Amino acid sequence: MKMWSGRFRQPLDPDFERWQRSFEFDRRLLRYELEASGAHAQALKNAGILSAEELISILQGLEQIGGRATSTPSFLEDREAEDVHHFVEKQLVAMIGETGYKLHSGRSRNEQIATDLRLYVRATIDHLRQEITELCSVLVDRAEQAGEAAMPAYTHLQQAEPVLLGHWLLAYVEMFLRDAERLADCRKRLNVCPLGSGAVAGATLPLDRLVMAGSLGFDVPTANSIDATSDRDFTVEFVNSLSLLAMHLSRWAEEMILFSSHEYGFVILPEAYSTGSSAMPQKKNPDLLELVRGKSGRVLGNAVALMVAIKGLPLAYNKDLQETQEPVFESSDALLQMLPLLVGFMKTVEFDQARMQSVAQTGFMNAWAAATYLVKRGVPSRLAHEKIGKAVQMCVERNCELADLPVEELRSLSPAFGADFHEALKLASVLAVHDVAGGTAPARVREAIRGTRKKIDAVRQEAHAHA
Ligand code: ARG
Repeated sequence: MKMWSGRFRQPLDPDFERWQRSFEFDRRLLRYELEASGAHAQALKNAGILSAEELISILQGLEQIGGRATSTPSFLEDREAEDVHHFVEKQLVAMIGETGYKLHSGRSRNEQIATDLRLYVRATIDHLRQEITELCSVLVDRAEQAGEAAMPAYTHLQQAEPVLLGHWLLAYVEMFLRDAERLADCRKRLNVCPLGSGAVAGATLPLDRLVMAGSLGFDVPTANSIDATSDRDFTVEFVNSLSLLAMHLSRWAEEMILFSSHEYGFVILPEAYSTGSSAMPQKKNPDLLELVRGKSGRVLGNAVALMVAIKGLPLAYNKDLQETQEPVFESSDALLQMLPLLVGFMKTVEFDQARMQSVAQTGFMNAWAAATYLVKRGVPSRLAHEKIGKAVQMCVERNCELADLPVEELRSLSPAFGADFHEALKLASVLAVHDVAGGTAPARVREAIRGTRKKIDAVRQEAHAHA
């Protein structure tokens, strides 16, 4: 039986009927639909609508539905169910008889979907936060293993200054930790319970909303039934947070792709995560990284799709809101699948540290440190910059590095150049000069590794507490 056939004289056009269904995708909300229905049933009993026996029978029926869905996946191949809410009602009645129809007393699917989707997003946030900490941990491990290995850092994609490989890895950890924090922030705001909001004006029965909210782990009931049934802000916040996470992963993937090219030669792709070419026998392609970059575009697209779907909707519930589910699921799946693969990739990828180190010592990446040498000897910064610029020009003409210029010759540029200048040009000195919190001096990076591990542990503990 449909949930609404009474006032209709004609059946639905079969193509329309199939087309408007959401069960194909919202069945993944079944678990939350069952939990929320249990809370509602309890409230109906407390309001005197269900007898104790009816409540028990409904709760047992709900449990049975959950059990069958897990044990027999084909149970969910239901061509009649309009959506997950209809499916549960239909199965409940099949299992326990007409009492099953009492479950819907005083509630509307509008509040149900708003509740189920919140529960889904909340659980997914907890799961994602754990996955993010896994990835961050591997990155920090790799940063620690890299020790004092250096690499070139770029600005404008031109060689800029040497940094520790660990410092570069930690840059991404910072981004991912912000993503984890954004998800936690989104979780705070979404954790309110729409149950008892009815279709738009509030439940038609005296249901205890505080108890329902509490039993589902929500902080409080929603404050306004019109807003509660039409609000999908949490999906927008969630998918936008995922877009940022995906965007960070995409930037990282792009760098790794560049670094794995022959021209850079910094990264040796793990065979377990690469593919070959059907035509060119020599190829080892960075498919995992490319797909991370590619799929992140779809995640971003979903964030846009959500806002466009919602922006023109009058209050309150409109069927358009059904369209907000798939972008949420698709983006969640994309990240939940990507993150563990990236953990595996990061554990096995090799850095050609010797090559990185040697490149880090070329291309005048010590020029700013050289200017700093002069600044420390009293030369005004702008003039020091000018002098080193001139020295670089000399090197370009002679096709050599700053360290190849004799001190005597440099003295013609400035008397501030001393015998210790060449020492200041060495990689170790250049790195050590960046001795500020957040800088790349080895001691600072070690300090950052310790601090980052603490931050990761805090996220992990919080995610565990919720799980
Ligand atoms: N499948 C619907 C959705 O996802 C459930 C709510 C239906 N409500 C209604 N008034 N037709 O939005």
